[in-house]
Amino acid sequence: MTSQLQNLSQEFKHNLKSVSDLLFLEKFEQKYFSRATGEFTKLMKTLGAMEKGKRQEFGRAVNETKNELEKMLAARREELKVKEMGNTLEREAIDVTQPQLPLHEKGHRHPITLIENELVDLFASMGFIVEDTPELESDYYNFTGLNIPPYHPARDMQDTFYIKNHAHLVMRTHTSPIQVRGPRKYGVPLRVIVPGKCFRNEATDARHEHTFYQLDGVVIDKGISFAHMKGVLEAVAKHLYGNETRARLRPKLYPFVEPGVNGEVTCFLCRGEGCGICKKTGWLEIFGAGPMHPNVLKAGGVDPDEYQGFAFGLGLDRLAILKYNIEDIRHFHSGDLRFLEQF
Ligand code: FA5
Repeated sequence: MTSQLQNLSQEFKHNLKSVSDLLFLEKFEQKYFSRATGEFTKLMKTLGAMEKGKRQEFGRAVNETKNELEKMLAARREELKVKEMGNTLEREAIDVTQPQLPLHEKGHRHPITLIENELVDLFASMGFIVEDTPELESDYYNFTGLNIPPYHPARDMQDTFYIKNHAHLVMRTHTSPIQVRGPRKYGVPLRVIVPGKCFRNEATDARHEHTFYQLDGVVIDKGISFAHMKGVLEAVAKHLYGNETRARLRPKLYPFVEPGVNGEVTCFLCRGEGCGICKKTGWLEIFGAGPMHPNVLKAGGVDPDEYQGFAFGLGLDRLAILKYNIEDIRHFHSGDLRFLEQF
């Protein structure tokens, strides 16, 4: 064997020991045994320049060495395969002794959303469109268009949050702007509801929040009477609280309806006997309603001599405290999980 072949063999054996993974082994194999550029191919190319007698002997020596080294390479490949398989198994092994990780808890709908969805379904089944109107509303749609011009004393009943340097904008105090926006957008006849968030600047207590939810509805058509309004609102009260729930209508001033009524249902806690939550009256106010005022119909582009309508506004938070027997409205936005997890 020539010294060249001996050196190559020694170098191969020495370097093979440091091959530590299969990827590297592929490159190593190419370096020595590639048909085009491998070290053994280069060595065979030197055969042509040799004397004839030596050529045969050198060729045999190269082939024997190559066979020996190829066997070593194959053995190393098997070793590395076993090693890498072991690593994978170790990585993927399941430790049955590990304590269970806490499960990711599923969220659920807020009680006010549950009430809102229930009412949206009910009104949709009665043919109402479900509409959305802005929370930051113009003074016109929130007050003036609803027959509450500037300086009208009724503005005091719904004090709100005004926007600095934008005197014509208010955080809406009710979802009633639909009474003007609805017919302007859809024309008449019309049946539409708007559920949404409202804002008032008021001292909070067990029944009042500064941020709360309402659902307003409007029906405009020919030949609409007070009886249609009462029928729809009774259907809502009974759908939510069952047939034994009693509702009553009492006069109340709302400048956008004439006559205005206050809708009350029997108190869930005392069943009409009188208690702290109903201020000893036995009744809880849950909506305002009434036949639409001609000025409001006109603001919506509707001829009051041809069409009549009624409007109503339900307090969703109040409906929810009745339905789920909640003693304080302020729980809804408290973010207290002990409260929310009960639904
Ligand atoms: C109104 O807001 C009228 N826009 C309702 C209306 C619509 C009347 C159409 C006539 C025709 P009122 O201020 O009474 O009315 O509020 C209606 C309901 O919203 C109340 O019955 C009550 O359930 C709820 N509500 C009012 N203020 C609050 C508050 N601060 N916190 C929680 N709920 C409230």
